[in-house]
Amino acid sequence: MLVRSLSVSGFRNLVPSTLEPGERFNVFSGDNGQGKTNLLEALYAVCTLRSFRSSRLRDLISIHEPSAQVRAQVLRAGLERKYELTISERSRVVRLDSKTVRPLARYFGEFNVVLFAPEDLLVARASPGERRRFLDRAVFNMHPGFLSAAQDYEKVLKNRNICLRDEGMKRSSRDALLDVYDQQLASLAAQVLRARRDYLRSIEPYFVRAFDLIARCQMPVELRYQSSGNLGLDLDVSESRWSGRLSGPLSEPSSESRLSEPSSEPRLSEPSSEPRLSEPSSESRLSEPSSESRLSGPLSEPSSEPSSEPRLSESRSEPPSERRSSESRLSEPPSESLSELQEALLQALTASRRADLARGATLVGPHRDLLEFRLAEQPVASFASQGQLRAMILAWKSAEMQLLAETHDDPPVLLLDDVSSELDPERNQYLFEFLKGRPGQCFITTTHPSFVLLASDRRDFRVKGGVIEASSTP
Ligand SMILES: Nc1ncnc2c1ncn2[C@@H]1O[C@H](COP(=O)(O)OP(=O)(O)OP(=O)(O)O)[C@@H](O)[C@H]1O
Ligand SMILES: [Mg+2]
Repeated sequence: MLVRSLSVSGFRNLVPSTLEPGERFNVFSGDNGQGKTNLLEALYAVCTLRSFRSSRLRDLISIHEPSAQVRAQVLRAGLERKYELTISERSRVVRLDSKTVRPLARYFGEFNVVLFAPEDLLVARASPGERRRFLDRAVFNMHPGFLSAAQDYEKVLKNRNICLRDEGMKRSSRDALLDVYDQQLASLAAQVLRARRDYLRSIEPYFVRAFDLIARCQMPVELRYQSSGNLGLDLDVSESRWSGRLSGPLSEPSSESRLSEPSSEPRLSEPSSEPRLSEPSSESRLSEPSSESRLSGPLSEPSSEPSSEPRLSESRSEPPSERRSSESRLSEPPSESLSELQEALLQALTASRRADLARGATLVGPHRDLLEFRLAEQPVASFASQGQLRAMILAWKSAEMQLLAETHDDPPVLLLDDVSSELDPERNQYLFEFLKGRPGQCFITTTHPSFVLLASDRRDFRVKGGVIEASSTP
C-alpha cells in the first residue's frame, strides 16, 4: 500500500499542508520540537483513529484551532481510497471515500501502519500495562475487529468495578448484577485472550529468527503470556511450538501453512449492544470517549497494577526440570475454543469475587495478564542488557512487519520515529539493511540525517516550526 498524499490542517503545530510522499523512503529531518513526530502521529491517527501518544484525540487539535483534519489518499491493489478524520472538541468524523463508513470496522484493515518509536525500545522491561498495550497495538493491526472486543471488555470491566465498590447496594442485587457482568466479561475476555494468544503464536517464529540475526548472542529468546487468576492458560509460545504437543486449534503446523490459511482468529464483530465504534449519526460522528485509557491502548488498568511479578519469581526458584514440566502443563489449555476460554474465565471471576469485593477491583482477566520476553530462560527485566532489550524490540517490529505483509499480501506503511538515535551503529545498520530488503513505504524522522543509512530511493523533507518542505538529500 502506498500513501499518495497526506493533508493536515489544525493538527498540533503543523502548518496546513499537503504532502506527496515518495514510494519508498521519506526522511523528515529537523531539530527537536519542530513537528516531526506530529507528522507521523497525523498519519497514524488517520489510519487507526487513535493517537500513539495521547489518550484523547482532542489533544491532537492545534491549540490555536477549533478542529483538526487529516486526509490520506492511499493506493492499494490498484485502488485509490481516501481516508479522512476530522476531530473537534466534542466529536470526530470519519469518512472513507467521502462517505460515512458503516460499520466502522470497514474503515480498518485495508490501510495498515506499523509504528516504531524510541519508547518501544525498552518495552520488554516496561510495566505490565505498557507491554499489554504494545501487544494490543500489534494485534489490532492484524485484526482490526479486536479493538471493539477490547473496548467493550473495558467498558464492562469499568461497570463491574463500580459495582464492586458500591457499598450502598443491597447484597442480593449486587450479586445478581455481578453475575450479569461476569457473563459479559468472560465472553469478551475470551475473545481478547484468544486474539492475543493467536497473535503471539503467529509472530513468534518471525521474532525468534529476527532476534538471532540482530543480536547474534546465541541465547534463546522466548515469548510468554501469563494469564492472571490461575486459569491454567499460560502460554509459553516457544515451548508450544517446539514441543508440538498442543492439539486442536492450538496446534501450529508450521509458520508457512499457518500463514497461507485464513486466520483462525474470528473477526471480532462489534457486539450489538452499544458498539463503541458505531456511528450514531449519518456523519459517523463519534463522541469522544470519556475513559482516559481508551485510546492509548484498549486494555489498561494502571491504578491496580501489581508492581511486582510474583509468579515469575516463583517459577524462577524452581529447579529447571520441574519448572519445565509445570510450565508445560500450564501451556496446555484443554482447547482454544472460545466457549472453553469463556468458561475458564467465568470460573476465575467467580473464584475471585470475594477478593475483588475486598479490593474494589477486578483482579483477573486480560487487563491483568502479562506478556513476558525471556532470554536464556530468564525474564529479561533482570537479565538482559540494554542492547539485548533493544534488539528484542527491533526483532519484534521486524517480525510484526513481515507477518502483516504476508498476511495481507501487502507491506504495511512503516512509521519510524527517530529510532536510530537510540541504536548502536551495528543495530542501526541492521535496521536499514532490513528496510532496504523489504518492499514498502517508510516515513522516517531524524534529528541527524546521517543516521539514516539510505543512499537511494529516498525523498527528503525538512521540518521546521510545523512547516514541512521538500529538501535535497543530504
Ligand atoms: N495541540 C498542539 N497545538 C500546537 N502545538 C502543539 C500541540 N501539541 C504539541 N505542539 C507542539 O509541537 C511541537 C512538538 O512536536 P513534535 O513532538 O512533533 O517534535 P519533534 O520534531 O518530533 O521533536 P523531537 O525531535 O524532540 O522528537 C512542540 O513545539 C509542541 O509545543
Ligand atoms: Mg519526535
